[in-house]
Amino acid sequence: MTPIQQCIRKKEIKLRPIWLMRQAGRYLDEFREIRKLNTNFIKLCLNSNLSSEITLQPLKRFDLDAAIIFSDILLVPYALGQKVEFRKDFGPELGNIDLESISKTEELDFFKKLLPVYKSIEKVKNNKLVSKKDLIGFVGAPWTLLVYMINKCSPKQKLKKDFFKDKYLIKEILLILEKFLKIHIENQIKSGATIIQIFDSWAGLIDDENLKEYIYIPTLNLVNFIKSLHVPVICFPREIRNYQEYCKIIKPDVINIDYSTNPEKIRKEIDIVVQGGLDPKILLTNKDKLKAEAKKYLEIFKDHPYIFNLGHGVLPKTDPQMVDYLIKFVKSYY
Ligand code: CP3
Repeated sequence: MTPIQQCIRKKEIKLRPIWLMRQAGRYLDEFREIRKLNTNFIKLCLNSNLSSEITLQPLKRFDLDAAIIFSDILLVPYALGQKVEFRKDFGPELGNIDLESISKTEELDFFKKLLPVYKSIEKVKNNKLVSKKDLIGFVGAPWTLLVYMINKCSPKQKLKKDFFKDKYLIKEILLILEKFLKIHIENQIKSGATIIQIFDSWAGLIDDENLKEYIYIPTLNLVNFIKSLHVPVICFPREIRNYQEYCKIIKPDVINIDYSTNPEKIRKEIDIVVQGGLDPKILLTNKDKLKAEAKKYLEIFKDHPYIFNLGHGVLPKTDPQMVDYLIKFVKSYY
């Protein structure tokens, strides 16, 4: 059993497994080199030779316990026929939402569009660098994907005033997302993913009265589906105000916390496996600060099953040597 699976399934506390969100990405020269030649980000994600190579890049450098497949949560709206583009220094930009055409998406077309992702997972799985490690597949939570699909770009700090105007559209999109996310999850598992992480990056934007309808119910349906496939599920409801209630209702195998959340409070309130928390900005400072901050998390969770990770993705300006230092520090911490 891999260190992460031992942590999740056996509640083993001594191994201190580690992987990092966005561990493959712009802070690595070898990624930037490929990216420079491949200006269309979606096409890059759908090139299984390149996406599998990028997935493995951080594993060649660092002693990580998992690979996370190089892809993006917005490939699902793309495969449902919505236009998705990534603009430099702006981020994702989506086209208008056309419910009629999205509703007509055929399962086979959706599968064919995402087939390169599954091929990439198979390629990574067959590489000896991951033979004793986990391979993490992922999806965006229905809520976060809905935010992108309706808002058509990153919402930054708040939703547009008329976001909830068309309740019918929202309800239909959530149902379509649930159906196709299950297909995408199952295919990632069939291709070799050993864990699924659900990214709910915009969970913090929703008010309490809407939590149940837009986050709890759709996420719970996915979590129960993943559990039925006997694969552990990690949930990351970024900046959600009440992690305790979220865990009580959703019951994921692992909860990833963000960096604005108090880890002491989490340790006291939550009894499931915890992942993450460290502020990725700490990696931009110096080794002493990094060591002190990493130690804080290791100490707080020393008697709790804990997977070391960040409270959000590795930032593009990060020095890979700091990442190396962090991983070695965590691995050698008594
Ligand atoms: O973690 C990993 O290393 C795996 C790959 C991965 C990417 N995106 C690659 C990527 C994962 C897990 C994601 C998830 C994702 N994508 C999320 C959830 C996590 C989070 O960040 O909150 C979200 C919201 C997206 C949508 C998205 N993709 C945005 C908003 C952006 C632009 C902003 C940014 O951070 O660059 C992307 C682009 C993206 N996805 C890049 C990478 C490596 C950068 C692409 C580039 O080279 O320009």
